[in-house]
Amino acid sequence: VPEEFDSTFWEERYRGRAAARAGKPNPQLVTEIGDLPPGTALDAGCGEGADAIWLASRGWQVTAADISITALRNAREQADELGSDVTDRITWMEIDLTDRAPDEERFDLVSTHYVHPVGSRDALFRRLAAAVAPGGTLLVVGHDPSDRSTGHSDTPGVHFTAQEAAALLDPGRWEVAVAETRTRNATGHGGREVTLRDSVLRARRRP
Ligand SMILES: C[S@@+](CC[C@H](N)C(=O)[O-])C[C@H]1O[C@@H](n2cnc3c(N)ncnc32)[C@H](O)[C@@H]1O
Repeated sequence: VPEEFDSTFWEERYRGRAAARAGKPNPQLVTEIGDLPPGTALDAGCGEGADAIWLASRGWQVTAADISITALRNAREQADELGSDVTDRITWMEIDLTDRAPDEERFDLVSTHYVHPVGSRDALFRRLAAAVAPGGTLLVVGHDPSDRSTGHSDTPGVHFTAQEAAALLDPGRWEVAVAETRTRNATGHGGREVTLRDSVLRARRRP
């Protein structure tokens, strides 16, 4: 991932546009996590908070972490509009996840979607995996290499397969439930409807 994808890039991106209106949760999150009983969750690279808000509204106690203070501010404003049931369940955390991660073995769910770190993505994923409690779930969603053909994710270095992410997990400690390419409908550049291709990894840390 290019060096320019640093905190300044994300700050400028979020400052330069209107805050997202009550964004929808990611469909891969809804599919993969919808049936899990709520517990503690880390949304790593939460952006403007749609996934964190969805998790909190389903009873999860969420730590929503991002490098961009503007994204966090926008996210918090949206959560506040939904009342204390949601907002009391979310802790917003400004953090560079390439530097450090929240505590090890702490979360029942660690979920990360389209975080393109400057530096080693593998190191970031390993750190996030370490934050999952025994018996907990890791959900990693990103741009599959086949998504390049949609023209939506054209930045070099942001693509990886679910199998590549799964290969980072020690099979003695992890049970991989899903490692595949999934589609997702979205509004692309110019407002046209596009079908995007995500890599989706869901794994359970053995108790
Ligand atoms: C493409 S956005 C995805 C946001 C959200 N997960 C979603 O699916 O809509 C990537 C997010 O990762 C955050 N991010 C990038 N590098 C980061 C880092 N090193 N530590 C924490 N957050 C980071 C950015 O600020 C941005 O909000």
